[in-house]
Amino acid sequence: MASSNDSIKKTIIVALSLCLVCSIFVAAAAVGLKPIQNTNKDLDRKRNILSAASMLEPGKSVDEIFKSVETRIVNLQTGQFATQEELQTAGINVATFDQQAAAKDPSLSVSLKGNDPAGIKRRSNFSAVYLVKSGDNIDRIILPVHGYGLWSTMYGFMALKNDFNTVIGFGFYDQAETPGLGGEVDNPNWKALWKGKKVYDDQGEAVIQLAKGGVDSSDPKAMYKVDGLSGATLTSRGVTHLVQYWLGQEGFGPFLSQLRSEGVQ
Ligand SMILES: Cc1cc2nc3c(=O)[nH]c(=O)nc-3n(C[C@H](O)[C@H](O)[C@H](O)COP(=O)(O)O)c2cc1C
Repeated sequence: MASSNDSIKKTIIVALSLCLVCSIFVAAAAVGLKPIQNTNKDLDRKRNILSAASMLEPGKSVDEIFKSVETRIVNLQTGQFATQEELQTAGINVATFDQQAAAKDPSLSVSLKGNDPAGIKRRSNFSAVYLVKSGDNIDRIILPVHGYGLWSTMYGFMALKNDFNTVIGFGFYDQAETPGLGGEVDNPNWKALWKGKKVYDDQGEAVIQLAKGGVDSSDPKAMYKVDGLSGATLTSRGVTHLVQYWLGQEGFGPFLSQLRSEGVQ
């Protein structure tokens, strides 16, 4: 004869109690760990900014090095640093500005329907940029860029010298392309190829692009080209489109051209 503990009612009560206890543990862990997750996310963002700018130093903490980086917000519609008034009207706090969230807010972004080479659907009207200064002058600038590859939106940072044309470094910190194919955007050897490349041609057009295969060093335009990713033509095309978009007229183009002619204000 089955003992009273084998009854269906008791089995269900035990199972439900177990689910309840476990869900309380999971929820408590999720809530309790949120501040640590946010801190780590912020640290990772800073590390990637510093990595693009070739500023990471062994033995020095990311937070310590990041003290020399100034975060500013650019109004992409005017091509100028956002004024205090614009920031207030838009409700933007420089320290906590979330560009991905802003791109989803119709009051802070524009729809790119019909003209969306980077495949991002909406573009925030404001973007953070990161400046490393020496005195009053900008020594280098780090720009956030993003766009669609084959499977995923790829998020990265591009660092430029103070001619606002020569690449110091470029890398993606968030992407989900296929490892070994499009995922080679994370390969340090490929990332190193960007160093010293020029973004703008003599006419000021953002022409930097990935070549089909390797760059021919005798090509007079080799300075604007980086090796394409083998077996990943579609991801490579995505990279070309997103860098040209963000450095072009709809992205940081007007802002960088203003910096070139007038300097920082
Ligand atoms: C499982 C699988 C994963 C793939 N992942 C990528 C990728 O991440 N990026 C990419 O551009 N192509 C990827 N491809 C290849 C594309 O389908 C396409 O064939 C390729 O972009 C063509 O590049 P190629 O002209 O350099 O060969 C993948 C293909 C398969 C079957």
